[in-house]
Amino acid sequence: MRLKLHVALLVCVVGTITLCAQSKATSKSFLTTINQKLDFAVKQEIKMAESVKDRPGKFPVTLDKNGNLALCDTTSWTCGFFPGTLWYLYGYSKNEQIKQHAKLFSDRLEGMQNATNTHDIGFIVYCSYGNGYRLTGDADYKAKIIRAAQSLCTRFSPVTGCIKSWDRGAGVYPVIIDNMMNLELLFEAYKLTGNSKFREVAVAHANTTMKNHFRNDASCYHVVFYDPVTGKVKARKTRQGFADESSWSRGQAWALYGYTMCYRETKDVVYLHQAQKIAAFILNHPRLPKDKIPYWDFDDTKIPNVCRDASAGAVISSALIELSQYVSKDDARKYLNVAKVQLQALSSPVYLAQDASNRNFLLKHSVGSMPDNMEVDVPLPYADYYYLEALIRYRKLLNGASLFK
Ligand code: GLY
Repeated sequence: MRLKLHVALLVCVVGTITLCAQSKATSKSFLTTINQKLDFAVKQEIKMAESVKDRPGKFPVTLDKNGNLALCDTTSWTCGFFPGTLWYLYGYSKNEQIKQHAKLFSDRLEGMQNATNTHDIGFIVYCSYGNGYRLTGDADYKAKIIRAAQSLCTRFSPVTGCIKSWDRGAGVYPVIIDNMMNLELLFEAYKLTGNSKFREVAVAHANTTMKNHFRNDASCYHVVFYDPVTGKVKARKTRQGFADESSWSRGQAWALYGYTMCYRETKDVVYLHQAQKIAAFILNHPRLPKDKIPYWDFDDTKIPNVCRDASAGAVISSALIELSQYVSKDDARKYLNVAKVQLQALSSPVYLAQDASNRNFLLKHSVGSMPDNMEVDVPLPYADYYYLEALIRYRKLLNGASLFK
């Protein structure tokens, strides 16, 4: 009897040691993959910067119908992602050439801190100057972040309790779920200045959106139209999704990332619960594919014969890595497993270009706007930006480092 017990104990201990050794080995091999992909990204993005640096005011935006590199200027909401990508890669590599490119492309955004005609100022200024400031402490970048936050606040209405997304004339007050992402700029400005107005606007927007944008299953609408006089909801619609009542994948991704970030900045558990409910909607969805990279809309009636959206997959992956830091061990394991599956898929030849065929973009297979037949199944700069962010976050976790330094 005693002998049997000893044998059972021994088996158990050996089993645990083997499992630990296996999981250490798996982590090590994933870390190696991450490092390889980041090293590859450094090379690709240097080539991308070299190919665009002599085009003043321009940024890479996608490929055109002939597979040629298409450029945008600061009128595109995506203009901050390429400078942000370069800053992320500078943070990883400390490569001076990347830093010079990051500065050059950030400089091209000069003046955007004053823009009051777009809510995308958060994406534009925070992804670029925000990362630049974190890595260099440049006082000019800091001033731009604060100025941009002031510009964004001009779009806030105390009547609706939220920031207007698009200017569509008097009486029209649209708010898109994407706008949750712009709140990070406001939280940063609050930390830099101590001016509570920035935080109050961000919190009000997050609360109003939580009340009006979500369905009972925690999926969200793309656009909510408010009455600017009464503050009441007039309509719930889509602009980039399959249908008003569908769940546009990138919208769900912005929501997940947005509420996770709001919890980070406020420690209000209401936001944590919201983020977990959104995560549950995405992760338990019967039409989430095995590799966890969503179709462009969860409700396209032609699934599985429709495009994936790598950008949504990258944003979700990055958000799940952060969310894993705030929850129980079991939930953390679940979120990290999914994030890893997503990063492995995105790092495979199915999504990640292996050479110059993608004109130096990293990821293939994203969708800008399907209803407009615009940027369908193409590379996009925000897919690359959030893919790198997710790789860098996962790498920091594996190295026991803080996610945000
Ligand atoms: N903010 C626009 C988009 O996600 O396509």
